[in-house]
Amino acid sequence: MGRRGRKAAAIAASGEPTEAREALEHRWRDRLIVEPRLATLVTAEGGRREPFHRWIPYKQGFSPGLVRQFLGENPRTPKEWASHPVFDPFSGSGTCVVECAEHGVCALGVEAIAALVFLAQAKFEREFPPLPPGARLESRTKASMWQEIADRVELPVHRAALMLAVGRQHTTAGRTNRGAGPLEVVLAEVAVMMRDDLFHPLPQVNRVEVGDARRIPPIDDGAIGGILTSPPYLSRHDYAQITNPYEMVYRYWHAGQVCHCCVSSGVSNTNHTAHRAVAHGEVEQVRAGPRSRGEGHPSRTVAAAEEAAEWLMKIGQAKLAGVVRGYIEDMTLVLHECHRTLAPGGVCWMVVGGARIKDVYVPSDLMVAEIAEGCGFRVEAIRVARDLVGAARKFGRLGHVAPRESLLVMRRA
Ligand SMILES: C[S@@+](CC[C@H](N)C(=O)[O-])C[C@H]1O[C@@H](n2cnc3c(N)ncnc32)[C@H](O)[C@@H]1O
Repeated sequence: MGRRGRKAAAIAASGEPTEAREALEHRWRDRLIVEPRLATLVTAEGGRREPFHRWIPYKQGFSPGLVRQFLGENPRTPKEWASHPVFDPFSGSGTCVVECAEHGVCALGVEAIAALVFLAQAKFEREFPPLPPGARLESRTKASMWQEIADRVELPVHRAALMLAVGRQHTTAGRTNRGAGPLEVVLAEVAVMMRDDLFHPLPQVNRVEVGDARRIPPIDDGAIGGILTSPPYLSRHDYAQITNPYEMVYRYWHAGQVCHCCVSSGVSNTNHTAHRAVAHGEVEQVRAGPRSRGEGHPSRTVAAAEEAAEWLMKIGQAKLAGVVRGYIEDMTLVLHECHRTLAPGGVCWMVVGGARIKDVYVPSDLMVAEIAEGCGFRVEAIRVARDLVGAARKFGRLGHVAPRESLLVMRRA
């Protein structure tokens, strides 16, 4: 922790009001179930070596094991899932839709970052033809090498391979990975991996689309059988940076592209702009940017979030206070959409991480549970996978508390 962080922590330890968050903790205490065996499932670690899931080392992902657990605990026939599919509104690397496909289950995903959608879709290809000879040309400078190759590859699956190879040359924090080999070598390794996996194609082709989880108009009310998802965690880190290498390559092919669908259907300029934003991966991330107006969130949530936000303001962290408030507004919109699209009786599993921002405790899992109830969900359980911060801190009269990473199990009444 830096000097400013220590200072903020010291101020936070002295006289921070905690009543609203304590009340929230008391209210939900009975529904918290500690389940340490979920700890490996809520992170991407468990899928690192599994076919398809090994393509994108997406730190923010969950494991395919969680998808298997979801399908196991909510059994339906493939026919039932076909009429009411599984939905992941924050599809990321596509763990949910891909693992569902592995089990012959119909699923669809929505994701803000177009490059991730492109990569997830590549997993549903049927084969990996040999790379064109030009794609193996030696380049003189490492920096321009991927662009030379980009000009020579056309098949989506080959383009995905180049994106993955460039991705491997960067750390998950978006910095150059000094240990990575030359692009040509990495590309050849990626190609072998993809060919091996696509040799056993997924038995079901599922769909992933670019979109905004807060507004999902193409899905009809009650059309979804079950939701399994993980929204971005409340965090002061910039998620977008992590996928930069993929996006950098993806934009090389797609920047300035004409939206033929808009042109041919003659939609208005406003809608065209909105469509372009979506088509080019410019969807606002859940934790950043100007806030949209969420309505109807229960006052207890607001009280707890406001308590944290106001204290952040007081310790000079106005931007982070805005992040906390924006998270609540965004999650309200998301939960309304989840509730609207889910069939009556349908289940929604949501992995939510709590946070400690500048030492200010934000029980996001409980806040999301409150919002969900306000939207008409019945929160059946908050299954605590693990504590996110090793050393719990003393919090008001509650004693020692650490932010939790929890699986919220909710049902549409
Ligand atoms: C925690 S990750 C989900 C990872 C996913 N479960 C997996 O296994 O790869 C959250 C994802 O939500 C996406 N996201 C952020 N804001 C979004 C929005 N408004 N609409 C849709 N997706 C969004 C992020 O780009 C990120 O990929």
